[in-house]
Formats: sequence, C-alpha cells, structure tokens
Amino acid sequence: MLKIDNIYKSFSKDSHPLQGASLHIKKGEVVALMGPSGSGKSTLLNCITAIEDFDKGNVTLNGEDIDYSNKKRVCLLRKNEIGIIFQQFLLLEHLTVFEQLFFTSNKSKQSIVNCLKQLNLDNEIDKKIEYCSGGQQQRVAIARALVKKPKLLLADEPTANLDASLAIKSLQLMIQIAKENETAVLIVTHDTRITPLCDRIVYMSDGVIKDDI
Ligand SMILES: Nc1ncnc2c1ncn2[C@@H]1O[C@H](COP(=O)(O)OP(=O)(O)OP(=O)(O)O)[C@@H](O)[C@H]1O
Ligand SMILES: [Mg+2]
Repeated sequence: MLKIDNIYKSFSKDSHPLQGASLHIKKGEVVALMGPSGSGKSTLLNCITAIEDFDKGNVTLNGEDIDYSNKKRVCLLRKNEIGIIFQQFLLLEHLTVFEQLFFTSNKSKQSIVNCLKQLNLDNEIDKKIEYCSGGQQQRVAIARALVKKPKLLLADEPTANLDASLAIKSLQLMIQIAKENETAVLIVTHDTRITPLCDRIVYMSDGVIKDDI
C-alpha cells in the first residue's frame, strides 16, 4: 500500500533530518513510528504529504509512484487518498463541525453525518469548532481525515495535550474505523499506551528507520 524508499532530506549544511528512511506498510496495517525528539519523524510525514520537499527517494502509494513535481496530482492525492491528523489539529475554528468536513471532502451530507456519529459527535454537528473541547476537536480532526475513506492515514502525535484516557478511546475508534476501511495507518507517537493498539512498531533514529520489532 505505502512504500517509502530511501528518503533523504536536508534543511541546510548542518541539518540532515532524513538519511535514507525506508518503510513499507500493507493495506489495513497500523504502524506506530517512535523515536527520540529530533530524529526526523515529523519531517518524514511532511515529505510524504509534500508539505516539505525532499532531496532523494521514492514514495509509492497503492502502486502509484508519486510524482511530486506534479502539484495537481499531489493535491488530488491529499484530497482523496491521504488523511492527515496534525498534532495541533489545524481546524478552521469559525466553521461548524459539519462544515469542517463538508468543505474539505466531496462526500455527501449523509456520509459526513454518519462519520461524525461513528466518532460520537452526534451532538456537536452544528457546533462551531471554537466551542468544542480539546477531545471533541481531536475527534473532528479524526473524522475529517477518515470521512474520505483514505488509502493512507498519517497522524503526528494525535494524543499530545489531551486528557489521556479520552484521547486513547478516540484513537481506538480511529483504528477501528481505519481497519473497517482497510486504510493503512502511520501514527507518530511517544505514547506507550497507543502502541498496543498497533500491528507493528518501528523506530526512527538519526534519520533512518530501524529494524521492525
Ligand atoms: N523547517 C526546518 N528548518 C530547519 N531544520 C528543521 C526544520 N524542521 C525540522 N528541522 C530539524 O530537523 C530535525 C528533525 O525534526 P523533526 O521535527 O522531524 O523531529 P521529530 O522526530 O518529529 O521530533 P519530535 O519528537 O520532537 O516531534 C530536527 O533537528 C529539527 O531541528
Ligand atoms: Mg515531531
């Protein structure tokens, strides 16, 4: 499903966060990416999603060798095939919960409402994001990423800054929905309560991904 092969990325002469990072993830597989601060985890996710460009290497999604010079294609992949959950959620706070999903996906009203219900947001559908709690915002961010039934879901420390038990419950739901949709998942996390929910844990250090455990 996702093949990351030998990604190299430098920011400057002294900053080389990715030094041949490789990782393959199967359809429906949930992988935790762990490793010390500064080891390149967020940079790797940003390269896959073209938030950052990279110097060398290949990314293949569902058999398609992604051509990062084709901005239109990359935008379409981000819109339809890749769900992203950022640590700070990056929701538009003046929109309602429904609008947040409506304006970022091309899904029907009914499938948006169904997705919000799956994440226990039945009572928040018309609430503005700015009035949602941190836990509710996390679930909206999860819903926004999952409503399009992406082939790949990327999450960068999705439980940081949240009440622990609630955040873990939301992630359990996220993984359950991803499994139902056969979405491949890569979660960057420092949280050892998340790793038992994953099929596999891989470790990053000094810009490379170490052997699977
Ligand atoms: N825009 C940038 N310009 C220059 N250096 C950067 C930039 N973004 C990240 N870096 C550097 O790249 C390295 C990897 O950073 P990255 O954010 O990928 O680490 P991380 O593994 O996600 O760490 P954390 O667990 O703290 O989130 C760090 O040394 C960081 O200082
Ligand atoms: Mg990071």
